[in-house]
Amino acid sequence: MSPGVAETLLEELRRYVGWGSEDERALRALHGPARARFPAIAEVFYDTILRHDEARASLVGGESRVGHLKVTLQQWLDTLLSGPWDQAYLDSRCRIGRVHVKIALPQHYMFGAMNVVRRELNQVIDDTYLSRPAELASARRAVGRVLDLELAIMLHTYREDMLAAQARQERLATFGQLVGSIGHELRNPLSVMETSVYILRGKVPDEEGIRRHLDRIGDQLRAANGIITNLLDIIRDRPVSQQPVALAAVLEEAAGAVALPEAVALDRGDLASLPSIRGDALQLRQVFVNLLENAALAAAPAGSIWVRGSEVPGAIQVAVEDSGPGVDEAVQARLFEPLITTRERGVGLGLALVKRIVERHGGSVAYQRGAAGGACFTVRLPA
Ligand code: HEM
Repeated sequence: MSPGVAETLLEELRRYVGWGSEDERALRALHGPARARFPAIAEVFYDTILRHDEARASLVGGESRVGHLKVTLQQWLDTLLSGPWDQAYLDSRCRIGRVHVKIALPQHYMFGAMNVVRRELNQVIDDTYLSRPAELASARRAVGRVLDLELAIMLHTYREDMLAAQARQERLATFGQLVGSIGHELRNPLSVMETSVYILRGKVPDEEGIRRHLDRIGDQLRAANGIITNLLDIIRDRPVSQQPVALAAVLEEAAGAVALPEAVALDRGDLASLPSIRGDALQLRQVFVNLLENAALAAAPAGSIWVRGSEVPGAIQVAVEDSGPGVDEAVQARLFEPLITTRERGVGLGLALVKRIVERHGGSVAYQRGAAGGACFTVRLPA
């Protein structure tokens, strides 16, 4: 966010809630009496979330993370009442908002959660200013405004995310149309070439030099056709068959299809102990072929690839990690988009196809840096 734009946003939000220096004074005055109540407010806040089944499910790491979140909520309350409510405040609140967007927390939970904070702080105000109605009124007004400001920032981050997704969608739609038509148009000349190579093989003398060149043309035609197939596969909604699939077998086949350099070791872990999932074994094989091919290239000339499977609530996860250099941060945000590649001769379709297939299965794929410092791709498929 550029400073100019962000400042306008802050000013606009403040104007929207009617923010003034009187509010800043009232919040700072409330900070002292409220501080002792922060731990209790954090308790009530997360108890309310945990009582609600769907909201509780959004606490990604299970209930064990709640302890940590109670601490961060108290820090949040601390700055909420002490300010300064400046650009750095807005930036830090936007960052917190994006944390919730990233975990796909439905935005309607934000209203209820903010109301819990509102109710608890109003209780503190009632207790503190029992016999001072003027201070009580200005504290109430200030808390109302600052929480409206918080909610506006929180929803702003959702809107940012939605706009980015929309832009991505439009880019992909244009890409899809272009690719669809070029792909189809290229199939014809390629198939004419294939036929001609076939006919030539029977007509030219059987010489090593000539055969080598014809083989080379044949290989390149297959490669070109493969690229078109991948492209069309990304833009098309291929139906997903719903058969029981053993991921260990899928991985076995995928590993067999990938040419691993001799000095790259593949550690397959124990996928056999995972329960079967429902899906399309052929398409899933493609997912792991692409991930293993990338991992092999990253780990080359010598290194390791680790595949680890695990069960998480409602899903099976398979992580493919390599000992390579990891993905550059600048590329990470667009890693799964078509035509994004870090390889000199790559087309940038492998991960886009992985994402497409996994999403067709109702799953997701994510990148993070692995424990060994390389790339780690985690595929999550519904159990
Ligand atoms: C008033 C509304 C809320 C506030 C002020 C708030 C505040 C925060 C803060 C300060 C963090 C730490 C961010 C960081 O520094 O990384 C956080 C993270 C988180 N919040 Fe909230 N939160 C709100 C609503 C909710 C709700 C309703 C849920 C779930 C139903 C939720 C779930 C989470 C989770 C799961 C994380 C951790 C994400 C991660 O680290 O992976 N939050 N929240």
